[in-house]
Parts: sequence; structure tokens; C-alpha cells
Amino acid sequence: MIEVVVSQRRNEAEGICSFELTAVDGSPLPHHEPGAHIDVHLPNGLIRQYSLCPGSANERRYLIGVLLEPNSRGGSVAVHALQVGDRLLISEPRNHFPLEAGAQRSILLGGGIGITPLLSMAEQLAARNQDFTLHYGARSASRLAFLDRLDHKTLAGRVCLHLDDGPDEQKLMLNQALGPVNQGTHIYVCGPGGFMDWVLGEARLAGWSEEQLHREYFAAPVRAQDTQDEAFEIQIGDGGAIYTVPAGSTVIDVLNEHGIEVPVSCEQGVCGTCLTRVIQGQPDHRDSFLTDQERAANDCFTPCCSRSRSPLLVLDL
Ligand code: FES
Repeated sequence: MIEVVVSQRRNEAEGICSFELTAVDGSPLPHHEPGAHIDVHLPNGLIRQYSLCPGSANERRYLIGVLLEPNSRGGSVAVHALQVGDRLLISEPRNHFPLEAGAQRSILLGGGIGITPLLSMAEQLAARNQDFTLHYGARSASRLAFLDRLDHKTLAGRVCLHLDDGPDEQKLMLNQALGPVNQGTHIYVCGPGGFMDWVLGEARLAGWSEEQLHREYFAAPVRAQDTQDEAFEIQIGDGGAIYTVPAGSTVIDVLNEHGIEVPVSCEQGVCGTCLTRVIQGQPDHRDSFLTDQERAANDCFTPCCSRSRSPLLVLDL
């Protein structure tokens, strides 16, 4: 854990602020690659994940960009209440959304605040003189963040802006943006759940393989309320204690009740912090973290939100 101080805050666009974080003792912060995020421990007790913005390459500061979402679970409201001089704890950067080494071409698609990791990627690809296009969609021009960096000459000709309230000819035509399936091309998407599901769904339909699709969810996609949830049992290791997980409780709730601690962060299946190995049984995966391939293997799951399809799940705890 690193103790940081908010050293600057800046309005980037309507509803979006960036926060510069520097170590309280002034020491350099750990290096990170584009796509990385940090956990931010907020004064209200919530822990939230935020991608590191472009401009974080400077080793003495991190930048996060946060969209104020008053109807969310309170993370963004707590961040927007931060003032210069406030102190926080953050984790070291983790990267579940790295650029694919060896890609011949990269197509980056960001919706709203999802631009933050993608802009860092675009800047690195440009610095390495690699082939890419960045598509950035927002509801209106006033909601476009980091315009100074998007306008920078290093990205010239490689950024396409798409505004929901703009003329039809500038709207994102996904089949044109992706082009024909090509083995050397990789697609990266980050933004609201509906936007991501649309991009990934269309790409799969067009024949892009899972290995070519890279995504980072900020929040769990909205699930219809599942009235079918049933109780199931978990066993702690092969031959260990067996506990019931009732409908309405999570595996994490039950583990905590019995004094078994599994580290958690987002508690909504986004960050992978709670990932736990499954020795036996079939998880009902409800996360946005694992790939389809990883889910199909059924050898791990996220106990903060996932449940079980089999009556018993044996966990490697
Ligand atoms: S705590 Fe984030 S996926 Fe479970």
C-alpha cells in the first residue's frame, strides 16, 4: 500500500475531473505500463479501481480521471469530494489490460471515461511508431476529456472522435472501424458496459477471435435481477468444512462469517482481486473479469459475485 496526497485536481470535461497523486514522502511511484489501474481506498471505506491516465509516465505522480456518477454506489462521488492536500492509500499498479506485444495493428475503442487507459496506449504506440487508430465516443463535445493530449501532434491523423449529438457521418460505424478480420490486428475496448458488449459482440460475429479482443470493464454490466438464485454449498479444501451459501448471500459473505478472509476490492466481479481456485464443481460465473476461455475451464471463480451451478463447490482455500 502506498500513501499518497492529492497534489492537483483539474476539470477535464463536463463531469470528469483528473486527480494527480504523489507519494506523501515524495518518493518515486512504481512504474506501470499503459492499461494499468490502481485501487484507491476512499475516505468512505470504499475501494475503487481507476485506470492510470496518460501523463502518469512521470514516476513521481499518478493521474486518474474520474467521471462523477451520482447514481452509482458512491465511489465517484467520494473521489470528486477530494481536495488538494487530502491523503489516501492506493495499491501498486496492476495491469489486466496490457497491449499485445507483437501486434501489427491496434484498434482502440473508448467510450466516455473509458478513454483513460486507451489514450495511454495510443501514446505508447505512437512513441513506438506502431500502427493504430483510436476511436473515442462521447455524448457531446463538452464531455470529451484530455483534449489537449488528443490534439497533440504525436497522435495526428490517428484519432477519430464520435459524438452522440453530432452529424451522422461522424458516428462510429463499427464494421468500418474494425475492417476485415486480420490475424495481426488486436482490438481494445473500454467504456460503459453497453458500449463494450456491443463492440465485443459485433467483433465476435464478424469473426474476430477471443485472443484478439481485449477489454477492461469499469463496473459490472447491469444484470437483470436474478430471482432464480438458489442456495449451494462450498467446501474449504478437499475434505474440509462445508458451509451453505443461501440465496441473497455471496460466497465472500459466508467465508467472512466463518473467519476465512479472501482479499476483495471491487466486490462486483470487475477487478479479479478475489479470484479463487476451484478444485471441484461448476461455478456460475457472474464476473466481467475472466475471459470466456477461462470461464469454460471452471478451475477458478470470483467469490464476490459468482455462484455455483453444481450443488457443491470445493474451493482451494
Ligand atoms: S473483488 Fe473484484 S472481482 Fe471480486
